[in-house]
Amino acid sequence: MGEPSETERIETEQSAWVSPPGMELKPRSAYLWKVRVWDNHGQDSGWSEPQRFGTGLLGDRWRADWVGDGGAVELFETAPARYFRRNLIIDTPPVRARLYVSAKGLVEPWINGKAVTNDLFVPGWPDYRRRLFYVSYDVTELLQEGDNTLGMVLGDGWYSGTMIPRHQFGREPRFAAFLDLMDADGNVATINSGEEWRWTDEGPIRMNSIYHGETYDARMELVDWCAPGAADGSWKPVTTRSGRHTPQAFTARLSPPVRRIETLQPKAVEEREPGVHIYDLGQNMVGWVRLKVKAKKGQQIRLRFTEMLNADGSLHTENLRKAKSTATYVAKGEGVEVWEPRFTYFGFRYVELSGVEEPLEDAIEGVVIHSDLPRRGHFECSDPMLNQLYSNTLWSQKGNFLELPTDCPQRDERTGWTGDAQVFAPTALYNMEAGAFYRQWLYSLRDGLRDSPNGGFPDVAPLTGFGFGSAGWSEAGFIVPWTVYLHTGDKRVLEESLPTIQHALEIMAAQSPDGLRISPATWGDWLSPGYPRYKSPPRQDLIGTAYYARAADIAARIADELGRPELAASNRALRDQAKGAYQKAYIEGNGVVADDVQTSYFLTLGFDLASDTQKGSVEDNLLRVIAEKDNHLATGFLGTPLIMPVLTEMGRTDLAYTILKQTSYPGWLYTVKNGATTIWERWDSWTPEDGFHPHNMNSFNHYAYGSVVGWFYSDIAGLQPLPEAPGWKRFRVAPKPGGGLSHASASLETPYGTAASNWRIEDERMKLSVTVPANSIAEIILPTDDWESVMLNGDLVESGIEGIELESGTHNFDFSIR
Ligand code: BGC
Repeated sequence: MGEPSETERIETEQSAWVSPPGMELKPRSAYLWKVRVWDNHGQDSGWSEPQRFGTGLLGDRWRADWVGDGGAVELFETAPARYFRRNLIIDTPPVRARLYVSAKGLVEPWINGKAVTNDLFVPGWPDYRRRLFYVSYDVTELLQEGDNTLGMVLGDGWYSGTMIPRHQFGREPRFAAFLDLMDADGNVATINSGEEWRWTDEGPIRMNSIYHGETYDARMELVDWCAPGAADGSWKPVTTRSGRHTPQAFTARLSPPVRRIETLQPKAVEEREPGVHIYDLGQNMVGWVRLKVKAKKGQQIRLRFTEMLNADGSLHTENLRKAKSTATYVAKGEGVEVWEPRFTYFGFRYVELSGVEEPLEDAIEGVVIHSDLPRRGHFECSDPMLNQLYSNTLWSQKGNFLELPTDCPQRDERTGWTGDAQVFAPTALYNMEAGAFYRQWLYSLRDGLRDSPNGGFPDVAPLTGFGFGSAGWSEAGFIVPWTVYLHTGDKRVLEESLPTIQHALEIMAAQSPDGLRISPATWGDWLSPGYPRYKSPPRQDLIGTAYYARAADIAARIADELGRPELAASNRALRDQAKGAYQKAYIEGNGVVADDVQTSYFLTLGFDLASDTQKGSVEDNLLRVIAEKDNHLATGFLGTPLIMPVLTEMGRTDLAYTILKQTSYPGWLYTVKNGATTIWERWDSWTPEDGFHPHNMNSFNHYAYGSVVGWFYSDIAGLQPLPEAPGWKRFRVAPKPGGGLSHASASLETPYGTAASNWRIEDERMKLSVTVPANSIAEIILPTDDWESVMLNGDLVESGIEGIELESGTHNFDFSIR
């Protein structure tokens, strides 16, 4: 226990990411801290309430051994969960005790009959080939004088469970843990995991698998298995492996863990046949259900989970592909029994409960789980369909922010597809505080980089297979750190990423001798309407070159931010070379871009690839190809996120709104009209004419097309971060009314506090209220050219409104928009 220390007063303009100078943190220690600030008038805030944090290993070596049962999970099979325990005699209870846990697999730590934490999927999902996560918990209150039992329940999770495409990171799940016990004098005794542990697989969890579900036999419950004194040596001896010589890096996780976040009650229930009921939760969600049953001993109760029902009311299981998504509970026959699975999850709206004749009134409750990230943004407007689209996107984010950004939560996939992640990140960072979540995932993206001529960042992170360097996917390694920085102002994400970014850029440059990335891997403009799967146009080298230029541009910006001007200049030279080559190869004299599809134009304009002389005619051609589709989008994963920004930049928000608001196919509101409660993988995942898309790759919870929602915040409401002042130190408020909306509002918890924009139109006058957090500045761009009509806080504003800047507080504008 150290002495309190006080740092010097720091002069800074920043309200966030200020690190106290000269503070050396000790490993494995608990800290209390408080802060006081003085504003520009010298006003003193006084001391804040004390806050706490703990440090991790900080260079200390991991010494605890890996403990396992010595067996291996059969190749691509499922297995029971294993239970481990050991006795620990404590003479004098510690003043502070902290448990550090790592696992290859998923673990639930217990002490003296109590689960140590409500966190789920501990300790998370790293790229196990290179890295292992650890977590720590304060367990002081759980320990006692005399006998103590430490327990662990170990599941396969993403490690020894099978992930697409038929991948197991390893087949022997294990945990490693140590307990630091501090006495009143500050001496620390450490208990490392090792041979003292005993194990059994005769526990109730008979099968556990991310894709397939869980089977729980309550008759096999290990009553009091972890009660003090229970570890009597009767279980089987474990096998251990050296923890000290672990080749992977031990990394403290950065992201908040997955937790139970909310519950949903069924909206309807239908008895399909005797003993088979289907519950409708009313919302496509991710997690599981809490089951409540009264049943006979040995009675088998089965739960199946799907997102949709077939026309005849049966479960639509085709789109789960090989995932069995089934939970089975075998009753012990003792009154009302309550159960939830823990080493699996499901993406579903409908639950089929079979094996119970007469379910209890509250037999089923939906338990929504996801990474426990604070909500950051809220948006609302006068159009109920747009509000539903916003809600659908938020739910798809909840469902796919489960430990890392996944493509989908239901079928035999649920992996960190990088293309999906990069298109959605700008939206995700508005909705939730996702900085640490992405920063943690970026470890896996970097760990997956393949250093070879056809290498690069992987298509899926953590790497379970699939390719590398695919255009539009792998550049997530550039785009995500940059987007996180823009929203948070946290430079560490750039520092951590830069070396690997440079490496990936070198690989791309070698693939692109004269600036053209000749034959890159790519999944094309994935799922563009009319192109059911691979290789939708534009041509692959066009997509490849566009993304190469974009990546080099971001690498240049990052190098600039980190004070590396020479590196920035050489990255920019690569960008310029790619851009020049692109103009020559793909843009014809009349402004037609190769393949003449919408995405050809969106990439060209969205990534700033046309020359000043080409730009106008390229824009004209974009308008032509949009008109040819009767003002509908015709884009897949890569083109779609650029529609709104490009049209806005062209001054055509009117057309942006038209496309956004189409309720006929293809378009966002077409899915809303057809009852979507989440974002669908395909524009036609389900249609009234043809029912389900014939291909079984057909998720109803795929956030990629939800990428449009960033524009709701940035342009409908008008809250925009500025690259020249990342982290909302300075931002723009530029609302763009249109689409027949009479009001819209958004608020955002920025690192500086709440920013908000809220507008309403009445009688051709617009009332706009802007909230600017303390110590930040908002640049306002009003959607009017009737300057004489502008009132600010009740007073007429003189000319010169164009460059207006506002400081903290809420400011009300009122002006004519004729
Ligand atoms: C995933 C996608 C991913 C794609 C690669 C699919 O199976 O679900 O979202 O981006 O493969 O093209």
